[in-house]
Formats: sequence, C-alpha cells, structure tokens
Amino acid sequence: MSQKTQPTVVIRTATPQDAPAAGQICYDAFSAINTAHNFPPDFPSSEVCVGILSMMFSSPNFYAVVAESEGRVVGSNVLDERSAIRGLGPITIDPTVQNLGVGRKLMQAVMDRALEQNAAGVRLVQAAFHNRSLSLYTSLGFDIREPLSCLQGRTVERTIPGCTVRPATPNDEYAGNALSHRVHGFARSIELAQAIEHGTAQVVERAGRITAYTTHLAFFGHTTAETNADLQALIASAESFAGPGILVPSRNSVLLRWCLANGLRVVQPMTLMTTGLYNDPAGAWLPSILF
Ligand SMILES: CC(C)(COP(=O)(O)OP(=O)(O)OC[C@H]1O[C@@H](n2cnc3c(N)ncnc32)[C@H](O)[C@@H]1OP(=O)(O)O)[C@@H](O)C(=O)NCCC(=O)NCCS
Repeated sequence: MSQKTQPTVVIRTATPQDAPAAGQICYDAFSAINTAHNFPPDFPSSEVCVGILSMMFSSPNFYAVVAESEGRVVGSNVLDERSAIRGLGPITIDPTVQNLGVGRKLMQAVMDRALEQNAAGVRLVQAAFHNRSLSLYTSLGFDIREPLSCLQGRTVERTIPGCTVRPATPNDEYAGNALSHRVHGFARSIELAQAIEHGTAQVVERAGRITAYTTHLAFFGHTTAETNADLQALIASAESFAGPGILVPSRNSVLLRWCLANGLRVVQPMTLMTTGLYNDPAGAWLPSILF
C-alpha cells in the first residue's frame, strides 16, 4: 500500500488576499465530508465561504492563519477573539492533503495564540459524525461538553404567553451582557453590540425585564436566556434560521422535545468541545457554530 508523504508546510498569518483560495478549500472540505456522510453541505457555495473568510481575514477581531505548501494555500484556521473565551473555526484543509498533519499544525498555531494572549479558554463546535476532527481535537486537549442538534424549520406555535420578542437596541446591551454573565460567567459584549448594529439581534421581555437575547437565530448566532420559555419565544418568532439551523443542546430534553413537537427537523448532530475555563451554564442557551 502506498503511503502519502507529509507535505512541507509553513503556517503564516492570513491576509485578505488568501480568502479566495482558503474559501474554495473551506467549501470543498465541508462539502466532501458532509456528502460522504449523506448530510447537506454547511455552506451553499464557495462564494459564501470566500465572503465569510474575507471578513474574518480582514477584521482585527479574528486571528487567522493559513497553511502554505510549495507556495500554495492548503488550509486555514480562525480564532474569534471577541471575548475572554475564544471561538475556533472554521478550520479546513484541502481534501487532497488531509490526514497528513496540516490540521494539527493549524490547530496548534491558534491554541498557541490563545495561550500567549491569556485567553480564559478556547471552544469549538464539531460535526459529530467526523471521526478525524473528533480525534484531532480530543488529542489536543479539547473536552466534549455538550451534544448539540442542528435544527431547521418553522414552529407551529408562533408565540409564548407572557413573552414579547422585539429587535434589540443599544439600550439592551447592559441587560444582555449581565444575563450572559449570570448564565455563562462571561459576557460576549462585542458580538452583541455588532449584532445590534447589523439588525439581527433580538431580546425577550417578560414581566418588564430582559430575560433573553439572541445575536441571530442562525448557525453563526448565539442565544442566552433565563429559562426555556424565553428561548422558545425567540425560536417561535423566526420564519426560519439562517444557514443550516440553530444549535440546540440535546441534553435540554424539554426544549428539544418542544422543538420536535413544533415541527422542527434535525439537520445534523454536532458537539461542543472546550479547553480551559468552563462552567455549566446556569440558564438556557444556544451556542453559535463557534461556541
Ligand atoms: C478536520 C481537519 C481540519 C483535520 O485536518 P487534517 O490535516 O486532515 O488532520 P491531521 O492529519 O492534522 O490530524 C488528524 C489526526 O486524527 C487522527 N485520526 C484520523 N482519523 C482517525 C480515526 N478514525 N480515529 C482516530 N484517530 C484518527 C490522525 O491519525 C491524526 O492524528 P495524529 O496527528 O496524532 O497523527 C480536516 O480533515 C478537514 O478539513 N476536514 C473537513 C472539514 C472539517 O470537518 N473541518 C472541521 C470542522 S469542525
């Protein structure tokens, strides 16, 4: 049996000029692994991947690296640095050079960066069916924290009694960040402020208080709530969820059962993995595809 040799790889900081090549690889890598397991692709086109990576490679909020071999980009990885906890991903390697150690080097590069910057921890969301990424992350020190179900659809119930859902405004930032502190032990204030500016953030008001916020009911948005009822109010307010869907912690049986009874469909199983600081959330929550 012929054995592939390890390519000589240089890891360097990504530039916006790397986005077209890295975006194509991102699309090819996710399409290949998902198709091989009969799951729909995470991204609809290579243009969408190029757009997301262009934004990440040019924003000071993200630390991005590429792997180069013989002058060609063969993979990339990104660390979201918007909060004390860093979010890792997307990491993708050109399918022709996967399983040859490139992914491990790109993981090490962003984990070193998190350590240098004294980040409290690093988190990621992994496709549960992907043996290789599970093995790689576990061997690098990531622990499994939550099984997740990516869900898509429109709920039959459209409102929850006592809960009012409305667009978030800058005046809601203090309450949203305080809620995140109570539930998770840290705030994601930059993400919330950016989502309010982009018009995707919403809050729930119950009994005259803010009891939940979402940055976006989407693959790339996170949601924090006092109770399941507050989460249900947000989920029920959406016509559909942007991207593949929202990520529901599968051990939250009450919420998952309510989603299924309301007609939402499971798209794929995923797993939240973490290194460093982790507290069991003291409330209801939906992670984004980063954490
Ligand atoms: C996941 C991905 C980033 C990993 O990068 P890679 O370059 O292929 O992986 P590497 O070769 O660096 O590391 C893979 C490790 O997993 C191990 N591995 C692979 N399959 C395994 C299995 N079934 N059981 C146990 N270990 C396994 C390899 O032996 C290797 O371990 P080692 O470093 O100790 O030798 C890459 O395969 C990819 O882009 N996949 C498609 C997109 C994707 O899923 N991205 C991750 C999103 S969460």
